[in-house]
Amino acid sequence: MQTRVHTLRHCRDLGGGSFAIEVDGPIPATLPGQFYMLRTEQRWPVQLPRPFSLYDRAADGSWGSFLIKPVGEGTRALCASRPGEGIVLNGPLGQPFPQDVVDPICVAGGVGLAPFLLLARQAKANGRDLRLLFGGRTREMLSGMEDFAGLVRLHASTDDGSHGFHGRVTALLDDLLQKGVVKAGETVFCCGPDPMMHAVADLCGKRGLRCFLSLETYMACGYGVCNGCTVKVQGPRFKGWPYSRTCMEGPVYDACELVHEHG
Ligand SMILES: Cc1cc2nc3c(=O)[nH]c(=O)nc-3n(C[C@H](O)[C@H](O)[C@H](O)COP(=O)(O)OP(=O)(O)OC[C@H]3O[C@@H](n4cnc5c(N)ncnc54)[C@H](O)[C@@H]3O)c2cc1C
Ligand code: FES
Repeated sequence: MQTRVHTLRHCRDLGGGSFAIEVDGPIPATLPGQFYMLRTEQRWPVQLPRPFSLYDRAADGSWGSFLIKPVGEGTRALCASRPGEGIVLNGPLGQPFPQDVVDPICVAGGVGLAPFLLLARQAKANGRDLRLLFGGRTREMLSGMEDFAGLVRLHASTDDGSHGFHGRVTALLDDLLQKGVVKAGETVFCCGPDPMMHAVADLCGKRGLRCFLSLETYMACGYGVCNGCTVKVQGPRFKGWPYSRTCMEGPVYDACELVHEHG
């Protein structure tokens, strides 16, 4: 993990309110699912940096990019930065998606698409085309989809039917299970809004698929000292301790490890 100031090269409008912000290198080797804490060098409006998956990286590390949707002051400041300005990066942080799964099915919603571009490039370099299921409310909300052209077998869904499968991404996954494009015993990697990840994990549980979720919890430090990012967990990895720091043992968890509190 290193902290350094990088120069913003450009901020690309991906449509649907999201941007890819590209910074110069060196960007360290980073595994799909790992993240960085980011802030602007000047005029950072909030106290703490914010976590983002690395979206893309030049093979030689000479540049990297982050897919960001402005939802608050921090993300707005990052997306309003101009070429030549400084962006402070701390990373890579956290645990990646498991590296030993061959041909995972990637299921993404919104900016949850971010960790899958590196994974798609890694798979392509090994001669494989990942199946990517990407859902949004409308065609416009499928921000970043074009960046995956030629890299994956893409199955898109929209809630309003304006592009691809008409319905939620969980219904699309169900449909692909019925058609045999996805089969019981396979492994899903999922990233997106919490309700969508719960629904995907539920469906996977019922249909005999293994499922890993990349959580987007609130984070303060990003490297294990503040305990601001804990989630309730179970299983041998945590040696009997009921909480896990998302920034250290996560953000990727086997869905079976997460304990959902109801009510
Ligand atoms: C490991 C990880 C990877 C992430 N990768 C990306 C990414 O690639 N692209 C991207 O755009 N975002 C990503 N996020 C989410 C991103 O960090 C938050 O959107 C960001 O911190 C918001 O900061 P802000 O100052 O703009 O908003 P704030 O002012 O902090 O919040 C604005 C609004 O968003 C809500 N909010 C903020 N953070 C979260 C959260 N984590 N979960 C639910 N609601 C939240 C707040 O409640 C508030 O309503 C990731 C988060 C994690 C933990
Ligand atoms: S964000 Fe501080 S311990 Fe995880």
